[in-house]
Amino acid sequence: MRFSHILAFAAALPSTLAAYKGFNYGSTGRDQAAFEGEFNAAKNLVGSSFTSARLYTMIQDGTTNTPISAIPAAINTGTTLLLGLWASAGDAQFANEIAALNAAIAQYGTAFTDLIAGISVGSEDIYRITPIGVENNSGAGAGPDVLINYIGQVRSAIAGTAVDGKPVGHVDTYNDWTNSSQNALISACDFLGVDAYPYYETTKENSIANANATFWDDYEVTVAVSQGKPVWITETGWPVSGATSGQAVASIDNAKAYYDDVACHAFASDINTWWYILQDTGADPSFGLVGAGTPPPTTPLYSLAC
Ligand SMILES: *[C@@H]1O[C@H](CO)[C@@H](O)[C@H](O)[C@H]1NC(C)=O
Ligand SMILES: *[C@@H]1O[C@H](CO)[C@@H](O)[C@H](O)[C@H]1NC(C)=O
Ligand SMILES: *[C@@H]1O[C@H](CO)[C@@H](O)[C@H](O)[C@H]1NC(C)=O
Repeated sequence: MRFSHILAFAAALPSTLAAYKGFNYGSTGRDQAAFEGEFNAAKNLVGSSFTSARLYTMIQDGTTNTPISAIPAAINTGTTLLLGLWASAGDAQFANEIAALNAAIAQYGTAFTDLIAGISVGSEDIYRITPIGVENNSGAGAGPDVLINYIGQVRSAIAGTAVDGKPVGHVDTYNDWTNSSQNALISACDFLGVDAYPYYETTKENSIANANATFWDDYEVTVAVSQGKPVWITETGWPVSGATSGQAVASIDNAKAYYDDVACHAFASDINTWWYILQDTGADPSFGLVGAGTPPPTTPLYSLAC
């Protein structure tokens, strides 16, 4: 097929030519076939191909420390990976994350490690322990000292393996990166992943008309504290349906406007971007670019052409 030839050729080019462009993927209830269905749908989306996957855990759902089946799915579909190790469930569970990472390197070798865009230690762990996170009942979190320790554990685990040299960092919300308590954590990171959702920023004038400016403000304040580390967009999006949040109205038209402004500018600026989210069936608000179906449909709810 003509299209797959183009992809194979693009994959062989140096990665500096194109930023990573992908989606976030949960792990609950997914087996390899489910991940492959999603990765293929993302790759073949009408109007825009998304060929990278951000994960939140190394562990296959329902197991103690078996590597997540997103890895063989990524190998079969040529999908690059921003790996994630869940860091808010205590030291014993983090050891399971490391065990799964080690096992995946041993089991899949360079077919896996060549696909790694980076490794995130944790996801919004700081956010969940701040007053806003607690108020929103966001669950258990972890502080910067814990995350710095875990980053050191990951660096030790990958030392001397084919993953040595891949960027290791952390993902959090923009307003937590700018909290000066995180300066030592930033020093320990090779990259910062930033999550920012103007839809939820109800303390600001957050109608869709202000959303692009708000998002890029959030991004730029993170860049300003990043100590020169690259800042990757690890989550953002606008819901197609759901409740109004402050002045932010969830609708397909507004989701398209947000995508046209924010995603297209990120792609044009060659910023690594993992959008939220390919499919979000049943969620309220729902951020999905496509509707229901297994595997997900490849026709989006609105045009993704930039
Ligand atoms: C700043 O971060 C620390 C954790 O390092 C947290 O305890 C504190 O609540 C944060 N401050 C705000 C205003 O979120
Ligand atoms: C969390 O709560 C704050 C304060 O009530 C609110 O402004 C914000 O939108 C909430 N954030 C999320 C992600 O729900
Ligand atoms: C969105 O914000 C970016 C960054 O400030 C800006 O360059 C771009 O022109 C904005 N897009 C629109 C449609 O206003």
